Amino acid sequence: MSRLVKISGMVDPHVHLRGLEWSHKGTFHSETSAALAGGYWAVLDMPNTPPSTVRQSGLQTKLNAIDAEAVCDWGLYYGATADNNSATYPSIIDDVCGLKIYNNATTGDLLIDTQTIREQHFRYWPAHKPIAVHAEGETVVDILQLVRQYRKFTHFCHISTAEEIGYLSAAKAEGLPVSIGICPHHLYLSENDVPHLGALGRMKPELKTKADVNALWQAISEGVVDVIESDHAPHTLAEKLMPTPPSGVPGLETTLPLLGLALHEGRLTLEQIVALVADNPRHIFHLACPPETYTLIDFEYTYIIDRQNLHTRCGWSPFEGMRVVGKIIEVWIRGQKVYNGEQILAPSGFGRNLCHNSLIP
Ligand code: DOR
Ligand code: ZN
Repeated sequence: MSRLVKISGMVDPHVHLRGLEWSHKGTFHSETSAALAGGYWAVLDMPNTPPSTVRQSGLQTKLNAIDAEAVCDWGLYYGATADNNSATYPSIIDDVCGLKIYNNATTGDLLIDTQTIREQHFRYWPAHKPIAVHAEGETVVDILQLVRQYRKFTHFCHISTAEEIGYLSAAKAEGLPVSIGICPHHLYLSENDVPHLGALGRMKPELKTKADVNALWQAISEGVVDVIESDHAPHTLAEKLMPTPPSGVPGLETTLPLLGLALHEGRLTLEQIVALVADNPRHIFHLACPPETYTLIDFEYTYIIDRQNLHTRCGWSPFEGMRVVGKIIEVWIRGQKVYNGEQILAPSGFGRNLCHNSLIP
């Protein structure tokens, strides 16, 4: 039996594609291939991969590389720096999808832990493109203060605790312009999985308690959550097995089948899934779905996640061995079949920068 579902214009607004100096972890070609295999039309790439996307020259280097290699459509975030690079905003704003501000420690060197510097970024960032923030715990409250002051749309990435959901639910009730993203690993894994996963269960924000996991599911069912985002952050298995392993897990190819599992178990409706992986991220980032751009998924198909079948260069998954539901049958972009359920059909460079081509005024 099969249950074929068509979802138009799926977007993952939070990925780390690697490439350039980190091409051993993944290339723009390998990781956008993983995006297509995961059903995505488009991905928005974070700025913390060397060379960090924080100057016009670094941005141009990344634009050239991804433009030559990408097989799905894409956008790039610009990164805010602790030495305040806000003077460069006018020169880069037309090429990027938004600004990323790292307010708690993670991979890379873009941490900003002083409120006065954060404030400068909120003041000078042009209001027509979103700000995305990494903010955990009490830091969410600090950022909400800036949202209240400047009223600039702010997407809170990878929210992982009941406490953070509480702050952001209140902010929404207050009418602040905010959205909430949650990652599949914070929904399907908890701190109880760390002993057996080891470094493969290590990411920022870290895995949390069962009570937090339940609070995230509850927030989704109440409609408080806007986006499911993978935070796809591949590191090689060899790096993960080192004494001080880097944080981050791949996720582009497992997000939709994990949501399919939730559909199968009655935890989510199809309408909720479409909103979380397609309609809401397109709306938040002002992305118009091009004509004939959609994904066909068989939501009756059950399978076990196996590293052999992944396109991501890192070749492992924290969900390996899990039984999930939903096979990507085809992906179409602008009337062209780009994935047939097994192979990538689009040539390198097929993907376009959405911030040049698809912005809704
Ligand atoms: O675990 C993480 N890894 N969290 C992040 O925020 C960054 C990412 C990476 O780039 O490796
Ligand atoms: Zn991230």
